[in-house]
Amino acid sequence: MQSDPRHFALVPAAGSGARMGAALPKQYLPLLGKPLIHHALAALCAAPGIERVFVVLSVDDAEWARHDWRGLGPRLAPLFRGGPTRADSVLAGLRAISGEVSATDWVLVHDAARPCLARWHIEKLMRELAHDDVGGLLATPVADTLKRADEHARVTATVGRDRLWRAQTPQMFRYAMLRRALENARGVTDEAGAIEAAGLRPRLVEGDAANLKVTWPFDAHLAEWILRHRGESGGEEEKTP
Ligand code: CTP
Ligand code: MG
Repeated sequence: MQSDPRHFALVPAAGSGARMGAALPKQYLPLLGKPLIHHALAALCAAPGIERVFVVLSVDDAEWARHDWRGLGPRLAPLFRGGPTRADSVLAGLRAISGEVSATDWVLVHDAARPCLARWHIEKLMRELAHDDVGGLLATPVADTLKRADEHARVTATVGRDRLWRAQTPQMFRYAMLRRALENARGVTDEAGAIEAAGLRPRLVEGDAANLKVTWPFDAHLAEWILRHRGESGGEEEKTP
């Protein structure tokens, strides 16, 4: 009889953070006194049911070793394997862990640049996908009316927001299925895109806007505010699942 699938986290953190325009890649910018990536790693390392947390760093990353990660415990493992794109980094990480992970184990891929990942996000994703044949991702329904523009920023169409969602991470898929999909898909920007290209339909699990991606400098201020005020909002993180 096959044993229950285990869960692993894989955190791509080999980007340069060009849009932040800072001297350091954004994963190392200070956020509440810690490197930005520390916050997401802390949430994943504290999540019950996650065996190991692999971090994919760029091959020549000199910053990781300047910080003390011991407080995050023994489940954390850096891999100096990053590639030119996010998909390359994730695939390189998946290849590197092949000896530790079984084909049917779940892998939760989470952006280093999403520091406000909360425990309830992880638990809800794991719970709702536990018996899913495909896997899926955290996402939020689009609230704004969307406009398509021409090259002069003039509106050519209003795009109905009905059934449109914003994809977040973690994205959770079975190891072998995800690896095969990424080996075969080129130019995808997230794991779900690779699974879709393989003809499957990832499930959307509703999260919330707090799990934002830090892309522009303003996002770092928002993320800091969210982390500082966590627990005060009466938000979902305080509800029992
Ligand atoms: N990432 C990665 N390898 C790459 C590019 C990105 O591991 N070659 C990671 C980033 O470190 C980040 C996540 O993928 O955690 C999401 O990517 P993004 O927000 O685009 O980060 P950057 O590529 O670093 O930022 P920018 O696009 O502004 O340069
Ligand atoms: Mg990028």
